[in-house]
Amino acid sequence: MKIDILTLFPKMFEGFLNESIIKRAIEKKIVKINLINFREFSSLNNNQVDDTPYGGGAGMVLMIEPIVKAIESLKTKDSHIILLSPQGKVYNEKKAIKLSNYKHIILICGHYEGFDERIYEFIDEEVSIGDYVLTGGEIPAMVITDSVIRLLDGVINKESIENESFSSSLLDYPTYTKPREFRGLKVPDILLSGDHKKIKEWREQKQKENTFKKRKDLL
Ligand SMILES: C[S@@+](CC[C@H](N)C(=O)[O-])C[C@H]1O[C@@H](n2cnc3c(N)ncnc32)[C@H](O)[C@@H]1O
Repeated sequence: MKIDILTLFPKMFEGFLNESIIKRAIEKKIVKINLINFREFSSLNNNQVDDTPYGGGAGMVLMIEPIVKAIESLKTKDSHIILLSPQGKVYNEKKAIKLSNYKHIILICGHYEGFDERIYEFIDEEVSIGDYVLTGGEIPAMVITDSVIRLLDGVINKESIENESFSSSLLDYPTYTKPREFRGLKVPDILLSGDHKKIKEWREQKQKENTFKKRKDLL
């Protein structure tokens, strides 16, 4: 899979791409990630990419030309183009699964007041990571990239994904590790019993209880 990220602040991705599971997925060539600074596509003096809004008002608006030129330099028949915006449809695991099936995703990170409205003619969909406003699309791009990469074959153990929260309508079951007891708090006996059938049943029951307690809306 290839993910191209259009951003004015590529350095924000340094830590994200160079640590842990994402780094390994890139090294194993399961995913290729390119950071494209669309400032390089500006045809104006000083590589300007934003200007004041027509009609007046606060802040600076991202100009359409550099972004569209950047898109055109990357787009193929396999590309799926996503505009990151708080006005988009709110992202979830179902969407991550859908995106993980594309061969090529282009993520467009906004900044300042956002995009010139005409950008909608050049994208496939608008995605938000939640009902709040961030300073830029870089963190949303990382959220989407991370959640998609971990679903790709060979990145993490398939079993881990199958039992996880949101993979069905239930949240994950509770997990414990060593020590068996911490300040009087004990690991449930069933998990130490070695009876795998019973452990499976206990976990299924806990998934239901957990979801009922924390996220009734999912049931
Ligand atoms: C300050 S925001 C612009 C907000 C815009 N004026 C509005 O009210 O809809 C700047 C950029 O950050 C990104 N952004 C901010 N919040 C986001 C969110 N919840 N989901 C996705 N992207 C977001 C978008 O790329 C956006 O263009």
